[in-house]
Amino acid sequence: MDEIRAILAETHALWGEGMTLDEYMAFVFAQMESPWGRENFRYLVWKEGGVILSSLKLYRLQVRFGTRQMALGGIGAVYTPRAQRGRGHARAMLAAVLDHVRAEGASGALLFSDIGTAYYQALGFHPLPSHEFSVPLHAIPMGERSPLAIEPIREAEWSEIERLYEHATASDPFALLRSSAYWDHLRRKERERVRRRPAGGKLPCHRIARRAGKGVGYVLTVFDPPALILQELIVADGRPETAWALLGAIREDGEALGGTQLSGWWPPQGWSRLLPREVFHPRPRDRELTMIASFDPALDVGALAACGDLFWATDHF
Ligand SMILES: CC(C)(COP(=O)(O)OP(=O)(O)OC[C@H]1O[C@@H](n2cnc3c(N)ncnc32)[C@H](O)[C@@H]1OP(=O)(O)O)[C@@H](O)C(=O)NCCC(=O)NCCS
Repeated sequence: MDEIRAILAETHALWGEGMTLDEYMAFVFAQMESPWGRENFRYLVWKEGGVILSSLKLYRLQVRFGTRQMALGGIGAVYTPRAQRGRGHARAMLAAVLDHVRAEGASGALLFSDIGTAYYQALGFHPLPSHEFSVPLHAIPMGERSPLAIEPIREAEWSEIERLYEHATASDPFALLRSSAYWDHLRRKERERVRRRPAGGKLPCHRIARRAGKGVGYVLTVFDPPALILQELIVADGRPETAWALLGAIREDGEALGGTQLSGWWPPQGWSRLLPREVFHPRPRDRELTMIASFDPALDVGALAACGDLFWATDHF
């Protein structure tokens, strides 16, 4: 634990989201201590003779590709203390972690690179499509009067959100499988972040669409002034009008908060049809790029790349 604290003290400036050091540490530990986190999230340090040479976060994720369910190792927060850099420590650690993940039975490993693709390509990772968009809120049409009710998501409604996600992604060629424990973990992470957010910092803003009382879709966003960041937009009834009603509602939410833009990662796979390109103008990302290493012929990287972008921002780590 002291070793993780030492690493967090260094990464605080980079990844602390404006929290104090104590808050940042408590935020990371709260994620490790959730029931899902205890099983599926480890903070690893790479050491020699008591000296920390490098470090990373390792997640165990479940995905479905076609009809096959498989495990993926998720690698985040790769960090080498300044004094140790440029000596191959991160490279050696990552090679060992890939061996470990493979030995544990995973079909591959996933990461979101902040440092371009070359470094991780040399370790066997392949870049996957990664796009982003940013539009002025006023460019989002407000739509016709709709029979849908668009309401803030209440605490008791998250099990309904969970079912909507499962139902709506069941026919996607690729899906990250979210157990109830994983959803609880995501909720906990968000609560812990909100509790510690610096004044004016990120604020979640989520809505569910109901038709005759029945949930038919939802949108998850975070207000990070001056932009509302799209995390996820799920339409379970397949109707474009549901997407437009949700987008219109978040435009209103964003404007009420004083926001000017809607931004974010481009939706994965077929979900991108909900955001017309002529309005949302997706473009390739230059920072934070999705990369995957495959150990299993069934996890065909070319076939994965052909699916388009793969992950909602909700699942980023
Ligand atoms: C990236 C990082 C983990 C590399 O650790 P390391 O132990 O020095 O890595 P290695 O010795 O195996 O490799 C060094 C190589 O990493 C690559 N690298 C390091 N920082 C990089 C960056 N910002 N952009 C692109 N490549 C980078 C370079 O190719 C470098 O080679 P060089 O020393 O000849 O320039 C370390 O620089 C770090 O902690 N950076 C801050 C946190 C960060 O950005 N992490 C990556 C998140 S995806």
